[in-house]
Amino acid sequence: MPMMEWSHEYSVGIPSIDNQHKRLIELINQLNQAMAEGESASIVADILKGLTDYTRYHFSYEEDLFNQHNYPQTEQHLKEHASLIDRVEQFHYEFAQDPGGSISLELMQFLTNWLVDHIQGSDREYAGFLLKKGVS
Ligand SMILES: [Fe+2]
Ligand SMILES: [Fe+2]
Repeated sequence: MPMMEWSHEYSVGIPSIDNQHKRLIELINQLNQAMAEGESASIVADILKGLTDYTRYHFSYEEDLFNQHNYPQTEQHLKEHASLIDRVEQFHYEFAQDPGGSISLELMQFLTNWLVDHIQGSDREYAGFLLKKGVS
C-alpha cells in the first residue's frame, strides 16, 4: 500500500507543478516500499539519491519561476527549500553511514510531513500569483 496518495487537496492549480509534486510522492512511495520489503542498502541508497536529485530539480524549477516573475516572497520560500534539502541530505548521509540503522520510519514521516506541509502551505501561497502571470 502506498505511503501517500495524490489527492486533489494537494493541487496548487498549476499543472506543471502538480505533476512534479506527483513525481515526488511516487519517489517517496518507492523509497518506503523498498525499505518495507527489506531491499538491499544499495537499492535504497539509489532511490534516496533519486529523491534528493528530483527534489533539487523541482525546487530549482519553482525558484526559476519566482525569479522570472519577481515573486515577492521568494526569499522566505528559498529558505524553506534550503532547510528541507539540508534535512534530506542529512538523512542521506546518515543512511550511508549506517544502512541497517533505524532511521527509516523517522525519515518517511519527515518526508511525508514536509511535503504535505510545504505543498499545502508555501507552494499554495505562490499559486495565485503565478497563475495570474500565465504560468501553467
Ligand atoms: Fe516550494
Ligand atoms: Fe513544490
